[in-house]
Amino acid sequence: MALAGTGVFAEILDGEVYRYYADGEWRASASGKSVAIVNPTTRKTQYRVQACTQEEVNKVMDAAKVAQKAWARTPLWKRAELLHKAAAILKEHKAPIAECLVKEIAKPAKDAVSEVVRSGDLVSYTAEEGVRILGEGKLLVSDSFPGNERNKYCLSSKIPLGVVLAIPPFNYPVNLAVSKIGPALIAGNSLVLKPPTQGAVAALHMVHCFHLAGFPKGLISCVTGKGSEIGDFLTMHPGVNCISFTGGDTGIAISKKAGMVPLQMELGGKDACIALEDADLDLVAANIVKGGFSYSGQRCTAVKVVLIMESIADAVVQKVNAKLVKLKVGPPEDDSDITPVVTESSANFIEGLVMDAKEKGATFCQEYRREGNLIWPLLLDHVRPDMRIAWEEPFGPVLPVIRINSVEEGIHHCNASNFGLQGCVFTRDINKAILISDAMETGTVQINSAPARGPDHFPFQGLKDSGIGSQGITNSINMMTKVKSTVINLPSPSYTMG
Ligand code: G3H
Repeated sequence: MALAGTGVFAEILDGEVYRYYADGEWRASASGKSVAIVNPTTRKTQYRVQACTQEEVNKVMDAAKVAQKAWARTPLWKRAELLHKAAAILKEHKAPIAECLVKEIAKPAKDAVSEVVRSGDLVSYTAEEGVRILGEGKLLVSDSFPGNERNKYCLSSKIPLGVVLAIPPFNYPVNLAVSKIGPALIAGNSLVLKPPTQGAVAALHMVHCFHLAGFPKGLISCVTGKGSEIGDFLTMHPGVNCISFTGGDTGIAISKKAGMVPLQMELGGKDACIALEDADLDLVAANIVKGGFSYSGQRCTAVKVVLIMESIADAVVQKVNAKLVKLKVGPPEDDSDITPVVTESSANFIEGLVMDAKEKGATFCQEYRREGNLIWPLLLDHVRPDMRIAWEEPFGPVLPVIRINSVEEGIHHCNASNFGLQGCVFTRDINKAILISDAMETGTVQINSAPARGPDHFPFQGLKDSGIGSQGITNSINMMTKVKSTVINLPSPSYTMG
């Protein structure tokens, strides 16, 4: 039963084309043009969204600026109250939003529902965390610095940045949008959202939940359209005071072009799984499958290279293969484990990596199989560093295994990557695990579990080309604020006596 664009969501649809959201209203673009969203499973146009113009972006930025001034004066508890309301509405409407995720990005049905529920929880937690951390400031006294007496009191607090531009990726168009929207709003900023083309309709439904919650007009906007028309225009717009981006290489280009504004970026990874001889091999195999193949490997935190000690490699490969056979491959509506990858060009790219590995002599644990955008899960054993797949991020259900003879070899491979998002190490020896974690140049190391961003209040950051800054609810709220100080200068030193 199709629910998207119906009921309370009917007003976001204009005939065949989803409207964009500006100044508290759902509008059709003056361009008269739309952008097609192709269903990865059927490879046919599923939805259409407005192709917004630069002039429309300008108007959105102006409205965001005005709305932010009033919002910054809105009491913190009231901001939190509205966020809690939006979270509840979001969860109430999980079915139509999940339906969009299934159709636009081929997310397995159950995972699509989880994404929306997780998003509601994230927004609620953000509201609570914001009240906790933004309700406090600091008092500093001058006599801690040499040459000063206590005649200056410094009051510092966190204030909003202004207009935050949020650009989430296709793989979590709802969750990685609210992980930016929630912190921005609770901190007193306004928010302009540019969703990915695939995932845009899910994002528009999510934005409507914020609209229904009753946020002031202009505070949140959502513009859709072609990157070539409005992409650079948005990221280089003088009205933007902060950019929070999750995605691929585009982030590097954005960071070079953006003005003097704080950037929060998460740009992918080549997360290594290092398994030592003393590891629980069943646990290793289970996490390789979960970490490498959930959502068909289309997660920045997916396990993307297995670095395994030669002595346990055969056993682990066998266990992984036994699990891969059991994965259900097919359309997302059937709640398959492996679903079509997001676009034909992604599938072609993955295939290119697989063929390169084949030419260079990797062992195929399964036969390579592809139908349209659907690629069957594939484990490539005996991968060597001269193969592209040893270094590049497939973002698909294909996983290389590199056999190593020492832990140092594994750490060396991990650190030679230009990425540094997460990694994981499997061992029963906590002392070794800590040493390896410290040696791995990644933002996070998971001990005895696959990499993952959540729980969503944990710090989440990448080193090197994997990103700038740290995310996670608390860090994102802090990142979307700046410090403001007021210094009280007393005519004579004053000391509080006990
Ligand atoms: O794709 C990037 C996401 O931040 C990964 O999130 O670890 O919850 O799948 P996840």
